[in-house]
Amino acid sequence: MVLGYTRIGSAVRSRWWPADPPPMALAGKRILVTGATSGLGTAAVHGLLELGAQVFVLGRDPAKVDRTVGEAVAASPGAKVVGEICDVGDLDDVRRWAADFAGRVPALHGVLHNAGTMTGDERVTTAQDHELTLAVHVLGPHLMTGLLLDRLRAAGAEGGASVVWMSSGGMYGARLHADDADDIEYRNGSYDGVQAYARTKRMQVVMAQQWAGAVADDGIRVESMHPGWAGTPGVQQNLPRFERLTRPLLRSAADGVDTAVWLIATRPESGPGHFWHDRALRPVTWSGRGGPDEREVRRLVDYVVGATGMPLPH
Ligand SMILES: NC(=O)c1ccc[n+]([C@@H]2O[C@H](COP(=O)([O-])OP(=O)(O)OC[C@H]3O[C@@H](n4cnc5c(N)ncnc54)[C@H](OP(=O)(O)O)[C@@H]3O)[C@@H](O)[C@H]2O)c1
Repeated sequence: MVLGYTRIGSAVRSRWWPADPPPMALAGKRILVTGATSGLGTAAVHGLLELGAQVFVLGRDPAKVDRTVGEAVAASPGAKVVGEICDVGDLDDVRRWAADFAGRVPALHGVLHNAGTMTGDERVTTAQDHELTLAVHVLGPHLMTGLLLDRLRAAGAEGGASVVWMSSGGMYGARLHADDADDIEYRNGSYDGVQAYARTKRMQVVMAQQWAGAVADDGIRVESMHPGWAGTPGVQQNLPRFERLTRPLLRSAADGVDTAVWLIATRPESGPGHFWHDRALRPVTWSGRGGPDEREVRRLVDYVVGATGMPLPH
């Protein structure tokens, strides 16, 4: 399994994985990528542009967004690339940005929820006093999906829309709820940034499953995936030792994000777990059994809905 996460895994699997999307598979489609100013997100922007999409490059730092847009246009002259400024972890900013975006864009064919962050051993909180990784990985993307739902439905009615949550293989080692006290935000007791990261990545898989069921009749496919191990600025910065040790084996960013671009461009048939890696559905637990039970899932969904004020659609 460990080798499978490296560039060896994708090199071997690519010999028999499903075909690439046809050229210009995304011509006329509008796709939003969050966390687009670095690593996997930037690679996704380039991959989606190559398939003819109009790409919305969302980041929280205007200078990084401008740079990413400029580099994308330089690499693909004539490409349709639009910069979007939003802090995904700030729920008020998500509301502000989504209202503006929805006023400009009639239909949205794809969203890649890719923005990601990792904290150290100190609990960091957002403007709304949420633990940072929960806000960036779960609350912000959930709220954004809900606020853009009409635009996704419009694309769904035109032939289909896709939403992909970029999770992590690290989610395999995390339970949805650490214990019955269910301190999702780590408000009490000790905090461990690596554990918080892995748990919110597990939550992303569960939320993608919930969304997939809720919007299946709207022509919207919702999936989650993990990229394996890819050499990105985020890995260099947050896991320097791991990066040094594994450098020769790490995937390129384009290789890591390949499955996200493929999912958006081809909208393959999915399965109950909705969790992908290297263009194939994967189990959501190491044992191959189903994920968290219904009661645990309900607790998470209730919490996310309560914190964002955004219900799941019926
Ligand atoms: N690389 C891997 O091997 C790997 C493995 C498993 C999962 N992943 C997942 O893949 C995704 C991308 O990771 P990466 O390795 O490409 O990391 P990265 O190089 O650090 O890129 C992360 C991106 O997310 C953005 N971001 C962070 N917080 C944000 C916020 N509050 N609002 C808006 N944007 C925000 C960052 O913008 P700033 O520059 O402004 O911070 C950056 O553009 C993450 O979700 C990560 O968990 C990566």
